[in-house]
Order: sequence, then C-alpha cells, then structure tokens
Amino acid sequence: MSAFVGTQRDGRVQIVRMNRPDKKNAIDRPMYAAMAAALRAADGDPAIGASVIAGVPGAFSAGNDIADFVAIAMGGQPTGEVSEFIDALATSRKPLVAAVDGLAIGIGTTMLMHCDMVLASPRSVFRTPFLDLGLVPEAGSSLLAPRLMGVRRAYALLVLGEAFDAEAAKAADLVTRIVAEAEVEAAALSAAQSLAAKPPEALAIGRDLLRAPREELLERIAVETRHFGERLSSAEARTAFMAFMSKGKG
Ligand code: COA
Repeated sequence: MSAFVGTQRDGRVQIVRMNRPDKKNAIDRPMYAAMAAALRAADGDPAIGASVIAGVPGAFSAGNDIADFVAIAMGGQPTGEVSEFIDALATSRKPLVAAVDGLAIGIGTTMLMHCDMVLASPRSVFRTPFLDLGLVPEAGSSLLAPRLMGVRRAYALLVLGEAFDAEAAKAADLVTRIVAEAEVEAAALSAAQSLAAKPPEALAIGRDLLRAPREELLERIAVETRHFGERLSSAEARTAFMAFMSKGKG
C-alpha cells in the first residue's frame, strides 16, 4: 500500500515503521492509509497484543507531507487518509508504544498523545508549527495536550510552536523515558512485549479507563478537522506552504 511504511512482527508485538528517510519521514496520503490499516489490523488480530510505532534514525516524522497540503490549498479536495489514521489512533483497542529518535514534528508529535508509552532519544525534538503554517492543532491534541501537560505548556507547544527537547518533553509527560538513541527501539519493543503479555481483556478495559472518554475525543477531533480543512485553503496557509516549498530553490 505504501513503500514508505513497513510492518513486521516480533512475538505478540507489531512494529509499524515510517521509512521515508530522504523526506525526514514526512507522511504522505498512502503512508497514513498504511498506518491506519496496520493499527486496525492489530485491533482485529488476537495474536497481536501491542504495536510499536517507529521511524528512522534521526527522524521519527517531519509531519504531514506539505506537498499534500499544497494540493488541497490549490483547490484539491481533502481526502480521508489523515482522518482514517487519526481515527485509528483514537479508537485503538491495543496499546501503542512509540520509539522516537530525532525529529517529531506536527503529527509526529501529536500522534504521541495517543500512545501509552513513548521512548525517546536525547536528541529528539518535538515541535508543532501549526499556527505558523496558518493551521490549527489536530489529532485531538487540543484536548489531550492540556490534560497531559497543563494549559500553559500545551499553549507553548501547540500555539506558540515552541520546540521541546527530550528533557522538556519528558517533564511535560509527552515522553515516558529517555533512552540512548541506539537503544530506543529495543526499549520500545521491550515495553510493548510487557504490555502484550498482560491479560488482554483487563488491559483493554484498564487502558480505556485511563484515556480521555472516546466520545469526547472523537467530537473534538471532528471540530479540529473542520477548522483544519478550512484553514488549509486560507491565504495564510497558502503563503506558508509556498514559502516552504520554494525554500532552497531561490
Ligand atoms: N513535507 C514535505 N517535505 C518535507 C517535509 C514535510 N513536512 N519535511 C521535510 N521535507 C523534505 C524537505 O523538503 C527536503 O526535501 P528535498 O531534499 O527534496 O529538498 C527533505 O525532506 C529534507 O528536509 P530538510 O529541510 O532539507 O532537512 P532539515 O534537517 O534541514 O530540516 C525539518 C528538517 C523537518 C526541520 C524541515 O524540513 C521542516 O521544517 N519541515 C517541515 C515540517 C513541518 O512543518 N511539518 C508539517 C507540520 S503540520
């Protein structure tokens, strides 16, 4: 479905890897679709107890592929792949563990708010430049971030677009544990294996109880998506996208 997303199994754990290093793991539409399908497949497969979401060395993800934003800004219709992925994250019945090494931008940061554990290397950087792109926070982050880290820090991350280093992200509870870059994936896999070894029904219920109520989360995602879709074709967003796309070509 996408050459840039791979899935593999290690015992009861599914590893979903974003693998587009030349674009710093910017996520295009087929990648969203492939990741959504992998998370849904895990939900339907009793042999899978948990999933690890991973990137490549130095790049977890540079966020949404800006070329796809441009296509919509120039009059294309928003397509469903991003929403499918966000919905799969928000409704996942199985634990999600992230292995972050390096850049985590835009949805590369906001998807972590749906993960139960986040292992990150010291060189990781978390940033959501939504406002600077003329956009608004997405993926339920406007609801999840203030609960996770408090309103002030959520504002700094989501509205001011401040970059959080690994220590700041850990202090904000976005990251569970900082692990040397060579060990991030092994640590994430080991955490996922431990989760996958727990009684699955109790785990699913316990996980549900600890997370924001699903109806509330899905409602917020719908509101964010409406604003985001409108913002994509705004003059503010078009100007920001063009500036990024023409970077280095002047
Ligand atoms: N969408 C599309 N392409 C992207 C991308 C994105 N989100 N992020 C990086 N790329 C591409 C770059 O255009 C470049 O492509 P090229 O080699 O064909 O010119 C390549 O990936 C490498 O990126 P580059 O900018 O040269 O690397 P860097 O290490 O100097 O900077 C980033 C990395 C991620 C800080 C920078 O690329 C960036 O700011 N990207 C945009 C992030 C963003 O705004 N995401 C959307 C959030 S909603």
